[in-house]
Amino acid sequence: MYGIALLLHVLAATVWTGGHIVLSLVVLPRVLRERDPQVLLRFESGYERIGIPALVIQVVTGLLLAHRMLGSEGAWFDWSDPVSRTVSIKLILLAATAAFAVDARFRLIPRLSEENLGALAWHVVPDTLISIAYVFVGVSFRTGWLY
Ligand code: HEM
Repeated sequence: MYGIALLLHVLAATVWTGGHIVLSLVVLPRVLRERDPQVLLRFESGYERIGIPALVIQVVTGLLLAHRMLGSEGAWFDWSDPVSRTVSIKLILLAATAAFAVDARFRLIPRLSEENLGALAWHVVPDTLISIAYVFVGVSFRTGWLY
């Protein structure tokens, strides 16, 4: 069971973080160069079909993996313990992802035009950095970088 959860977690991480890196390094520069928000909307409509399920898998398997490491939820937010601190950082990153997603869905995307492409970049780049931070924090469970 552990192996399957870890495999799904890492596989979904490649989709989530990899997709964001493509978005930042390939799609966003094209949107800004051509001043065409449709380029982004086309990528989004395809990517979200696999990106959102990947994030859901990430959260479900992440919670299972954290439960295996920490046991009952009471111990999850004990910042004196390096493992619970690392899990808490993942949950804080998750809250940031949710906040960015809600803002993008309800404020930015509906009003996306040639005039506010700068705001789009301010969304895409931090979102990508957060997605890379997930991988860094995930790997640090083994390396102890955050301990
Ligand atoms: C998009 C979001 C996420 C990404 C990209 C991500 C990525 C990763 C990566 C790359 C690893 C390293 C796996 C390894 O050492 O082989 C990992 C481990 C881990 N992640 Fe995540 N993660 C995400 C979300 C979460 C969430 C929401 C939680 C739950 C709190 C979580 C909990 C864990 C745990 C407990 C481990 C350690 C697994 C182990 O070595 O047994 N992750 N994650």
